[in-house]
Formats: sequence, C-alpha cells, structure tokens
Amino acid sequence: MQTTSDLRGHLFPDTRVFTGYAAPVRIEGEVHDLEVVGTIPRELDGAYYRNSADHAHPPLFDNDIFLNGDGMVHMVRLENGHADLTTRYVQTTKLKLERKARRALFGAYRNSFTDLPEVAGQDNNTANTAVMWHHGKLYALKESGRPYELDPLTLATLGERDFDGQLQSKTFTAHPKYDPETGECIAFGYNTQGVADKRIEVYTIAADGHFTRTEAFEAPYSSMVHDFLVSRNYIAFVICPMVCDWERVQRGEPYWHWDSTKKTQIAIFSRQEGVKSIRWYTCPVAAMQTHSFNAWEESIEGSTVLHLDHFVTGSGWLSQFPDIHDPDAHERPPFGERWSFNLSDGQDWFEIRRLINHVGEMPVIDPRYAMRRATQFYFGTSNTALGPMLPLGPKGPPFTCLGHYDETRDTFDFYYAGPDSSPEEPYFVPRSADAPEGDGWLMCMVGRRAENRTDLVILDAKKLSQGPVATIKFPCRVHEGFHGTWVSAKALSW
Ligand SMILES: [Fe+2]
Repeated sequence: MQTTSDLRGHLFPDTRVFTGYAAPVRIEGEVHDLEVVGTIPRELDGAYYRNSADHAHPPLFDNDIFLNGDGMVHMVRLENGHADLTTRYVQTTKLKLERKARRALFGAYRNSFTDLPEVAGQDNNTANTAVMWHHGKLYALKESGRPYELDPLTLATLGERDFDGQLQSKTFTAHPKYDPETGECIAFGYNTQGVADKRIEVYTIAADGHFTRTEAFEAPYSSMVHDFLVSRNYIAFVICPMVCDWERVQRGEPYWHWDSTKKTQIAIFSRQEGVKSIRWYTCPVAAMQTHSFNAWEESIEGSTVLHLDHFVTGSGWLSQFPDIHDPDAHERPPFGERWSFNLSDGQDWFEIRRLINHVGEMPVIDPRYAMRRATQFYFGTSNTALGPMLPLGPKGPPFTCLGHYDETRDTFDFYYAGPDSSPEEPYFVPRSADAPEGDGWLMCMVGRRAENRTDLVILDAKKLSQGPVATIKFPCRVHEGFHGTWVSAKALSW
C-alpha cells in the first residue's frame, strides 16, 4: 500500500493537526513542585487526571485527524498546596507494535483496511479519550476499544481489561455515568464486534466492579454513539446521523460521515425494566448531541417528564469527518439545549428549548447532582465581548473562556483566560462532601499558546470572573486533551 508517509519520510505532516500549538508533544515524565501563582486550596488533596490524543509517530497518511492520536494521560497530584505533574502514554497494543517498528503501522481512524499488512487483525485502540475511576481502579477509555487499566499513582499501564470476562464487547464508551447515590457505573458499547452494526450493549456495573446487568438493543442505523444520558430512573440514547457505511470504510474512506437526510432518534428506557421498556422518539431536525450535562426527571401535573440537558449542533463533527452530501460544509456551533419528554402521555414528540445561549462544549455539572436536577452548569465557551476568537485549531475554534450558568438566578459568569490562552474541559470538585451544589472548585487545563506552555488553573466555581485562586504553571506544553476526572487522596490511599 502506498501511504503518504512513504513520500514524507519520518516527519509529521505540515497540517493544522501536527503543527503549532497542536503539534505532538510525545514527552513522558515527571515534574515535581510546579510553580504556583496564588494558593492551591488545602482541601484539594488528590489527583486530577485527564486523557489526550498525542501522536507518538508520524501518521501513515498526511490527512490524519486529531482524534487518531495515541492516548497520553496527564496527572496533576495536589498535596498540601503543592503540585506535581506526570505524563505517560497508555501502552496500547498499537503503541507497542509501532514503537517496536519505530514507525506508524496503523492507518486512518478506526479503519483497519488502511493498516499495514504486518498488523492485520491487531487492535487499533488508542485509549485516548477519557479516564474512568470506578471500583478503586483507574482506566483509560476510547469508545472503539476496551478499557486499559492504569496504576493511579504512576500512570503505568497495567493492561487491557474485560473486567474478568464480564465485558463481552470489544468496545466500551468513553462517557460512562456514575450514580452518586448507588455508586453504580452505567456504561455501554457500540459496534461491539469492531465493525459497524446497529447493536448497542448497556451495562450496569456495581460499586464493587461486578456487572449486574448487560442488555442490548438495536439502533435504527449504525452511528457514532459518543455520549448518552442517565437519570435516576431512565437511560436515554440520542442516535445522531454521524453514520458508518462499511462499504465506504472498506474503500478506505473515513469511518464516519454526516448524513443530514437521516433523522436523529432518541431511545428512552427504564433503568429498572431495561430495554424491553424502550420507546423511540424522532427529532424534527438532523441534530447531533456532542456532549451531555445531565438527565433528570420532574413530575408535572401527575406526568413524569424526563429532561435531557446537553450540547447539540445542527451538523456533525465536520472538523474531523466529512458531510456526505456537501464536502464544503462547515461545522455548526453547539448550544446547550434542554429536551423534555413527557413519558406519561404516549406521544412521540418532545419539547426543545435553548438552555445555554452561548456557543459552548465540554459540559460538566457538580457530579454529586448527576441524575437528579442540577442547576449549575459549566462549559468551555468563547465570549467575544471579553476577547477575540483564537486561530482555528484541529478540532475547531479553541475556547477562550469557561462559562458558568446558574439556572436558579438565570445568570452567566465567565472566566476569560487572556489573549492567546485556551481553557479546556473543566472539572468540578466540591469544597466538601456536604457543601451546597456549586460550592467548590473548577479545575481546568489552559493552553498558553504564545508561550507554548500549559497551566492548570483552579477557580472558585461561584466566582469565575474573579480569575484563578491558583495557577499551576507547567514548564512545558502538554497536548490539548479531552476528558478528565478528580480522585481524592483518600480514595487513592495515597
Ligand atoms: Fe467526549
């Protein structure tokens, strides 16, 4: 197979994905006692983990995408006002094979038909999207493969996991949901055999790691199921027309394409009754859920109404995957929406209203309020009243701000990170176990693009516009990432 790397040699392509602030970093290591501006709150004793896609080798194809990078996990250990940084690749099967060969062997994103013959049949999982902390273990997640367990103190890779045979699927979502009341993890897998199909498996994992329920249902078509929603009593999947056509994949085309002629459909079923209670709803427009805040139920005049709070766009992720009908189409900005379903009236329609009237993404809430009504919403955003947009990056325009929407007061508050600075996904940590909703800290990586560095900032979640209470300065850049979590020192037995 002729790949563009044959012509390029051992160099990264000169594209937006591989140059400038997006260039691969590839440095594994530890930095002790980072510089700190301000004061790290003493109650923050634990570790912030987050995952990123950081190509370890120049790709086989010049047009490779950001999402195809190798999983690189970053950990910032906070202890007694001090901070240490650890960066480590996830030692996937893919990375180990490519390190041995000293070159890329796997081709386009999730497309085994573009891999080199010497890795035929080998797992292409990059484990690059999220981290999961559950039943006392840390995992690196990617929706196209199984979890990789990491040592939470060192980030050393302990191996790919099927939870002692309980996970039959070859895939596991990067967006599991954690029930703060029961300690359960609700998760799913799609394209479970590694090829495009319509089957979705749903798992309930008890706090001790045992799978207490595995069920499956069929979606109307094979699509990217990146996120989902869980309330106290219901599970909801938004099936979006980011579709996979296996014949196209076999021809070497991108794994996903956006097909706006297909309808967005929503599956809702009871957590207790399972998939036999499934009901389908059709969205009036082709819409794509990018990421979810939360799902919650409300009783209105004797009816049960399920609310889905999430970011939604009218296009697919066109910065990564093409529109099948319009190759020149541009990605549309996502806004926070509330989709409300009356589960008692037998109707198949639902109500859509805009919840966050600012372009945004990477939504989070206070995790103690997951699955019930949450009123404090945090997200990455840009606010041109505070500062200009930044140059386009490989996954679209970088954020310039973090936003906070307080639904109880209907107010917005913003942290503007400064010129040439780009906040990433935030994570909320409560001030104490019994603090009121929203009383705590927001931590977030911030790209200092002009300095080619990264900071971790800690903000009072109620006072974003006042700026960080602590800015933890890395002496170098770590690659822009996706999703993270916080684990207390007590939980880590550190
Ligand atoms: Fe995600």
